[in-house]
Amino acid sequence: MAGIVVYGAGGMGKEVAEAVLACAESDPTREFLGFLDDRADLHGESVLDYPVLGGAEWAARHPEVEIALGFGHPWTRYRVVQDLRAIGSKFVTIVHPRAEISPSARIDEGTVIFSGCVISSGARLGSFVYLNYLSIISHDAWISDFACIMGHATISGEVRVGEGAFIGAGATTRQGVSIGDWSLIGAGAAVVNDIPPLCVAVGVPARPIRHYQTREEMPAF
Ligand SMILES: CC(C)(COP(=O)(O)OP(=O)(O)OC[C@H]1O[C@@H](n2cnc3c(N)ncnc32)[C@H](O)[C@@H]1OP(=O)(O)O)[C@@H](O)C(=O)NCCC(=O)NCCS
Repeated sequence: MAGIVVYGAGGMGKEVAEAVLACAESDPTREFLGFLDDRADLHGESVLDYPVLGGAEWAARHPEVEIALGFGHPWTRYRVVQDLRAIGSKFVTIVHPRAEISPSARIDEGTVIFSGCVISSGARLGSFVYLNYLSIISHDAWISDFACIMGHATISGEVRVGEGAFIGAGATTRQGVSIGDWSLIGAGAAVVNDIPPLCVAVGVPARPIRHYQTREEMPAF
């Protein structure tokens, strides 16, 4: 039994750990071992009564262990996945037992889905997608790799959420719109028109308020 660790021991890491623990209740092969974190001062500490085992060097020594990402900035997630892949790490897909998933939905490697989410028919979630509590992904929506969707967001039918896009808490979308790669949608926004890549968009209706040139410049949320 190799076990699972959560990479990131902050607030989101604790949430992901609790989703891992909920899965472990029904599947004893999914033992939660603890956290990894780049902050050396946390190594040896406890979070939720589980140890912070180390950082990337620990992952390199334990390639048999499966990793779930426990932090939310899409570009940071992308970089960390590249680094972990380079040292041979494996990733786990976590679907909370109280999420409702259509049998015709597709969910790829490394994605984490929290309690109360609904994934409707024909929806497709790429790799390393993060879906916080109570989010709804409607029919035939396409959530690209590394996109992060915060609590209570509604992604309507046939919406495309681009690679690495961040959808703030409670945001809603009109059916069929497209949100560009590495764009950031503010909390509570209503997306009724397409949003270009590499911008911050807020409000009702959502409009870009800032543009950037590269995904590395994606701001904090
Ligand atoms: C969109 C966001 C990233 C902007 O953050 P920021 O770059 O620090 O922007 P600022 O706070 O400086 O705000 C810039 C302007 O946009 C407005 N604004 C910011 N966020 C907004 C939002 N969600 N909806 C409407 N307007 C917003 C501000 O009022 C401000 O307007 P002003 O220039 O007229 O004063 C952030 O506000 C946000 O919504 N993040 C998502 C948070 C979230 O969902 N968290 C869940 C995880 S726990």
